[in-house]
Amino acid sequence: MWLSPVYPSPQDDNGYDISDYQGIEPVFGSLADFDELLEAVHARGMRLVMDLVVNHTSDEHPWFTESRSSTDNPKRDWYWWRPARAGHPAGAPGAEPTNWRSAFSGPAWELDEPTQEYFLHLFSRRQPDLNWENPEVRQAIYAMMRWWLDRGVDGFRMDVINMISKDTALPDGAVVGDDGLADGSSYYTCGPRIHEFLQEMHREVFTGRADRLLTVGEMPGVTVEEARLMTDPARGEVDMVFQFEHVQLDQGLTKWDVHPLRLTALKASLGRWQAGLAEVGWNSLYWNNHDQPRAVSRFGDDGAYRVRSATMLATVLHLHRGTPYVYQGEELGMTNVPFASIDDFRDIESLNYYAEAVALGADPGAVLAALRVMSRDNARTPMQWDATTHAGFTTGTPWLPVNPNHDVINAEAARADEGSVFHHYRRLIALRHTEPAVAHGDFTMLLPDDERVYAFTRSLDDVQLLVLGSFSSEPVEVSVPQGEAWAGAELLLGNVARDISPVDLPLAPWEARVYRRVIAPAADLARGEYKS
Ligand code: NOJ
Repeated sequence: MWLSPVYPSPQDDNGYDISDYQGIEPVFGSLADFDELLEAVHARGMRLVMDLVVNHTSDEHPWFTESRSSTDNPKRDWYWWRPARAGHPAGAPGAEPTNWRSAFSGPAWELDEPTQEYFLHLFSRRQPDLNWENPEVRQAIYAMMRWWLDRGVDGFRMDVINMISKDTALPDGAVVGDDGLADGSSYYTCGPRIHEFLQEMHREVFTGRADRLLTVGEMPGVTVEEARLMTDPARGEVDMVFQFEHVQLDQGLTKWDVHPLRLTALKASLGRWQAGLAEVGWNSLYWNNHDQPRAVSRFGDDGAYRVRSATMLATVLHLHRGTPYVYQGEELGMTNVPFASIDDFRDIESLNYYAEAVALGADPGAVLAALRVMSRDNARTPMQWDATTHAGFTTGTPWLPVNPNHDVINAEAARADEGSVFHHYRRLIALRHTEPAVAHGDFTMLLPDDERVYAFTRSLDDVQLLVLGSFSSEPVEVSVPQGEAWAGAELLLGNVARDISPVDLPLAPWEARVYRRVIAPAADLARGEYKS
């Protein structure tokens, strides 16, 4: 279980702006409540992973308050402070030390009036970036991590951890877009000291601990080659990474420039990650998290085929090789939200983008349309427990209103219905435990040019699994290479009830099937692979 940040925070970015790394935000409870939760999680044989947000802090963190207090404060160097660009008066347009754009719109530098210097913030101006070049910063972070492990937590999901090493020359980037700013990400994505920092963290925090811990690094812009290095167990960096390629295929230059997804592009991307981390390293698998719109609305059909397409997506994802992540509500097939106006949004990324785009002359209706599809708030409405007021999430006023469809889509209804998305997720998780090929088998992509069918095999020893998933609202013919080898194969799992289901039976809309066969020695002989 991975908790998004629950630390004290002014909530400028939903808790990703932390003002105290060793406490719990009162809105969520206390440290005593946290300990109780951890104990209860452990008692159920589960593990709990904290969100580690150490690329930046909140501007209300005492480290930053000290750092900003004067240019000669001992913590001044804990953050990235720079004077205005040479020849420019501080505060003048374009005087920022670099022309980088922040992830939440506007320049990545903010002028601090009293000292007339700028500080770097790759995210909101209330999230100043820590200076990892300073060894005291690193040691303070490692000490805090050890403190949580000593308390019993089982690992960390590391927020934008591939951004902690910056090019200290701070070069300008090439200007792209209408705001005169540049994408500076090549100067802080997997920067010059990233492997050194991750290895040092591993040594200082994790080495020698008896418990089996889990680390997953969130890494926007990471390549397969970098990820292989980062997740090679012999190098001692992280167990796995969250990469972003497959959740950017339906976008243009920015995430708000929404394109239809081409299934062939999705297969090419995920297939490349499967192959790239096959021998060394490990994949994480996800469609959803708190930053992504709901998968069933994005990649499936959240109308007539909501249950069918949500279960198909789950089947395809969970049968890949790697560690699957389920984001709260995904297992119910929760959908995007019918936001009526900009006043319905809370997320800083969405609000800043809207304000900036409209100020630059964009049509507010078109901006809103893009937000409805891509905004992070789609994933941030309350968990839908039941059909009552606020979906049983709270008796107070929730941060965002619940999705109006909670009367139909909710945990109580899903648990009572064997055909629900929830029960399908349970079957997928059970299958991972009973069929070793799911966790350990090799992966081979099939039908790479098919725009409607996702197909692959998994192989372990003499067991082979075949996974078919339809991304179409029409029935589709499917022709599996060497389909005759699958005659009589066992249908392990599917999302359409069938009496018979040979592999060449056309797939119903959004149908998923998983077959299993045991490769007989005779078949091996015929292929000349049998070794006595
Ligand atoms: C990635 C997190 O997932 C996102 O929610 C957050 O806004 C940024 N990092 C900044 O911490």
